[in-house]
Amino acid sequence: MISGLIDLNRADDEGLVTQLTGQLRSLIAAGRLTQGRALPSSRQLASDLGVSRNTVTYAFEQLAAEGYLEASHGRRPVVTGGEPFEAAGAAATGARSVKPQLSPWAAKLGQTDWPMSYQAPLKPLRPGHGDAREFPNEIWARCLRRSAVRAARRELGPVNRTRLREALAHYLATSRGVRATADQIMILPSAQAALTLIASALIAPGDEVWVEDPGYPGAAAAFRASGARVTGMRLDQQGMQRMPGMAAPKLIFMTPSHQHPTGRLMSLARRTEFLRLSRPGETWIVEDDYDGEFHYDSRPVPALQGLDGHGRVLYVGTFSKAMTSDIRLGYLVVPPALVGTFEIAQRHIGLIASSHIQEALAEFISGGHFLAHLRRVRRLYHARRDHLAAGLARHLGEVLSVEVPSGGIQLVARLKRGRVDQAAVKRLAEAGVETRALSSLALGKPRDHGLLLGFAAWRDSEISAALRTMVSCF
Ligand SMILES: Cc1ncc(COP(=O)(O)O)c(C=O)c1O
Repeated sequence: MISGLIDLNRADDEGLVTQLTGQLRSLIAAGRLTQGRALPSSRQLASDLGVSRNTVTYAFEQLAAEGYLEASHGRRPVVTGGEPFEAAGAAATGARSVKPQLSPWAAKLGQTDWPMSYQAPLKPLRPGHGDAREFPNEIWARCLRRSAVRAARRELGPVNRTRLREALAHYLATSRGVRATADQIMILPSAQAALTLIASALIAPGDEVWVEDPGYPGAAAAFRASGARVTGMRLDQQGMQRMPGMAAPKLIFMTPSHQHPTGRLMSLARRTEFLRLSRPGETWIVEDDYDGEFHYDSRPVPALQGLDGHGRVLYVGTFSKAMTSDIRLGYLVVPPALVGTFEIAQRHIGLIASSHIQEALAEFISGGHFLAHLRRVRRLYHARRDHLAAGLARHLGEVLSVEVPSGGIQLVARLKRGRVDQAAVKRLAEAGVETRALSSLALGKPRDHGLLLGFAAWRDSEISAALRTMVSCF
């Protein structure tokens, strides 16, 4: 008797129709009511279960609509559908113990993951952030509002909004020396998205990729996930070095404006050397100018992209540092020969930023607010850099040696004694000061131990308090 397989609970908040439908569905899906079997009539089942006939009729109609039953007027419903399969609930409980068969890309993700710092609440002196409290939120809110109001009149248009591309092309040419037309610029949800797009479009498994060591882990992760053999290049005072005798790779990733993490500026001689290397063959250079807006000691050094006369440099930028880290907007400037492919790849992967936000940002930039904000925070971050560097030298000069960067939002303080930066990071974190171990940014065996400290996001009083904590910890 089918009614013996059904257990309805009248005290349950879930209605009787829902319960009956769910239980019949599970019995069919689990193969306990097999294909071709006729169920009792609605009148009969209602009487067996002690429910109204309507309850059973609604359940039958629902299951017929889902394809589990065939119900025609005046006849008993018949179980239809394919082979029995496990009920969804049972499958879900067993699913965790099954090892999924992943694509080669996804299989590598676990080995190459790295902590994204904007996901956790911000604590002094976490590196990698500007000060969101200094962002002109009222002006930005007006730009967002106007963009939303205009949305109804706006035509559906290109995924990379023309106004923003034009505003960015002008800003990048005048402020960063980037030579590109608006149609070479792709607007993406982040710089990391740009790296994934580049890796997907240009890297085949086994390709050689050079990165800086120590360097930005997100780049190594993106290229490794695409199957690249990633080799770390040592640094000297001029930035990334080319190891003698190594053949040109498929791609070189670099942060020439302020090397991540040391903050070093790549010399012109080194820039020229890498550009020359990229010319003859198939070597691409990816220039990540993640915080190139912030320079303090001299005039800004133009982007490497502007020196490239052969279309070999892909230029990556982000608004994470110049605006706020949760704005989630970045951009990629591709050489003319790659525009078509990258536009298709962008749509295929779906790395498309909201048009509402793109339009708001176009207004924010062309209205002069972006430059005004940069001018203001540049002065502020400059003073904060000096405050942190001076404090470290004065109070912790015996244990730490500071490499003062000419720009950027963070600095490296090397441990003078011992090789225990992870232990120091842990001790400081327990005391409320968040830093990053230099050794954690090494590709292979770490050569240097030290702390990466952010200064841009913190007021002088917060930096001073963190310094006091550091002194007590060391
Ligand atoms: C060198 C470098 N590139 C790129 C990024 C990531 O930028 P986005 O937040 O736009 O992905 C970071 C963030 O820390 C970075 O340090």
